[in-house]
Amino acid sequence: MDKKELPIGVFDSGMGGLTAVKELRDILPHEDIVYLGDTARVPYGSKSRETILSYAAEDLAFLKKVGVKFTIAACGTVSSVMARDNIFEDERSCGVIRPSVKTAAEVSKNKKIGVIATPASISSGNYERLLKELSPDIEVYSKPCPMFVPLVENGYVERGCIPAVEIAKEYLLPLKQAGIDTLILGCTHYPLLSGIISDILGDGVRLISSGAEAARHAQRLLGEKGLLSTKSGPGTLKLYCTDSADLFMENATHFIDLGGARAERVSLGE
Ligand code: DGL
Repeated sequence: MDKKELPIGVFDSGMGGLTAVKELRDILPHEDIVYLGDTARVPYGSKSRETILSYAAEDLAFLKKVGVKFTIAACGTVSSVMARDNIFEDERSCGVIRPSVKTAAEVSKNKKIGVIATPASISSGNYERLLKELSPDIEVYSKPCPMFVPLVENGYVERGCIPAVEIAKEYLLPLKQAGIDTLILGCTHYPLLSGIISDILGDGVRLISSGAEAARHAQRLLGEKGLLSTKSGPGTLKLYCTDSADLFMENATHFIDLGGARAERVSLGE
């Protein structure tokens, strides 16, 4: 098959990477997409670096076996933990951390940038390091938000949902007090909480969706390499997960309109 017509592969620990898929489908409607959500092992963000690296290697191997032209590690945790080694930062792949850091540094006016992500992402120190590398005068305010992924995975995302609002206030009010004008949603689950987050921080704080930024970065790279599909019809979406396909389908509808896409359960590491 012509390499241009191979699918784009996207993976995450669970559903969060579907925020990257949503953006991909908007900006590259003719591309076929293969998505893997490692739903049997989500969350990654509270696990050790070694465990996260071994899970990510299995996710990658699966997409390689399927055959993709480009891979997006649409998981802030995997991207952060691997950022120091520049894995997922070549012409065939990207993570979510570098594209979102670049955009945040570009759009922030007062150079006070907040980063919210999983505990593993924040403790990797890589969001802060990369922001400072881009511009040493940026002040970074980081906050791990361990309760956000369970809230999203369980559908507690609507504006006014009291438990979600209370937890979000606890995490976000210190960032508001610090005067940030830009907030990186460093976990790909978090855009589902955008309404709640904006209500707390106000309109003056720009939210950066790391999954959407990665999708736009992939579009640029594929364009530069002449690897965009030349098909004229709508691209297909194939979904794989490692836990129940029915559960996946049910939860995935919170993230994107699945159209006719079906999920299939697979075992990794075989
Ligand atoms: N979407 C993942 C991330 O971006 C979810 C976090 C997790 O698995 O803990 O970090």
